[in-house]
Amino acid sequence: MNITTILPAVRALMAQDQRLPRLERIPTTTQVAITLPNPCTDIVATVKAALPPGATEITLTGIGSFRAIFDAPAGRASGKIAVVTGGAQGFGFEIATDLAKQGATVVLADINAEGVKTASEKINAATGRIAAFGVTMNVADIDSIKAGLEQVVSTFGGVDLFVANAGVLRAGSVKDLTVKDLDFVTNVNYKGYFLCVQAVAPIFALQHQALPDIWFDIIQINSKSGLVGSNKNGAYAGSKFGGIGLTQSFAMELVEDGVKVNSICPGNFYDGPLWADPEKGLFRQYLDSGKVPGAKTFEDVKRFYESKVPMRRGCTTPDVMKAIYYLMEQTYETGQAIPVTGGQVMLA
Ligand SMILES: NC(=O)c1ccc[n+]([C@@H]2O[C@H](COP(=O)([O-])OP(=O)(O)OC[C@H]3O[C@@H](n4cnc5c(N)ncnc54)[C@H](O)[C@@H]3O)[C@@H](O)[C@H]2O)c1
Repeated sequence: MNITTILPAVRALMAQDQRLPRLERIPTTTQVAITLPNPCTDIVATVKAALPPGATEITLTGIGSFRAIFDAPAGRASGKIAVVTGGAQGFGFEIATDLAKQGATVVLADINAEGVKTASEKINAATGRIAAFGVTMNVADIDSIKAGLEQVVSTFGGVDLFVANAGVLRAGSVKDLTVKDLDFVTNVNYKGYFLCVQAVAPIFALQHQALPDIWFDIIQINSKSGLVGSNKNGAYAGSKFGGIGLTQSFAMELVEDGVKVNSICPGNFYDGPLWADPEKGLFRQYLDSGKVPGAKTFEDVKRFYESKVPMRRGCTTPDVMKAIYYLMEQTYETGQAIPVTGGQVMLA
């Protein structure tokens, strides 16, 4: 039996007042010991029958002993276990930081192993507690996602919020973009989102079976380019449009498992490394390629793009966080794609 098929049920069954705990491994406990049959056809019913109400410690024979912890600081994400893919930098890092400041335990899941380590340390320093944990994960590889989620579940017991944020961009004309670049973008932005949901959905389903009145969230960080086309950027826009098709379809399917699935579609985030990196960022690329007529500096490129936005500025992480907390708190909406674009994209 795999730990991801057991611990989320145990965690949800140990909830108190509809609050799910974080599970911590302990050397042993005298409170409750359960030996699960192998195979165990109904893990929820088996654990429920053996677990006295109010129990806070449990031994699962052959698996380990665990304590349920309810010590999360107050906040809009208090007590949530949140996985943020692409959490080493940019939007992902800033989203994870905000969630941690609002009381969540955050897992930064990124292909950049060194990056998640440094980023988690920064969040722990900023919050003054062990709020962040880094796992190396390639969202384009199902085995890597499953291994990462196994680490999350064995460390914390389950997942409440999955932010599918990892994304890549290779701009270029349809006339000459290489198949390699097309595959790279599609594999991370489209297929990667599908595979992440495939791997995390059973964890949510198990928690829901054990505690049916709680909603869990999948939030995909999409883009304004998932709502309107993007000139000479078709691979990216196509992957993001496809992501919205996945969000709508997953929302219909996973509602029965207590999961809301939504996308957020931000406008350009000029402060993040994707634009601002002095050597590889989009300001540099667009300046060097002459994409913006007459532009001589990064500031010229920025002004050109800001002029397309009714509110005349780029998107920031606080703008995105307002949409994230709205989606988490809203219990009567799913399958939506919410623009956060300063009016650049308006829905009919
Ligand atoms: N930057 C913008 O202007 C902007 C605007 C709208 C939407 N977005 C979207 O926001 C998300 C984050 O963008 P960002 O600007 O922060 O990007 P970024 O390039 O700064 O960060 C992306 C992160 O994803 C990680 N990553 C890349 N491939 C991965 C993989 N296969 N598996 C796991 N991690 C991987 C990178 O290591 C990096 O840490 C993306 O989905 C992007 O499409 C960005």
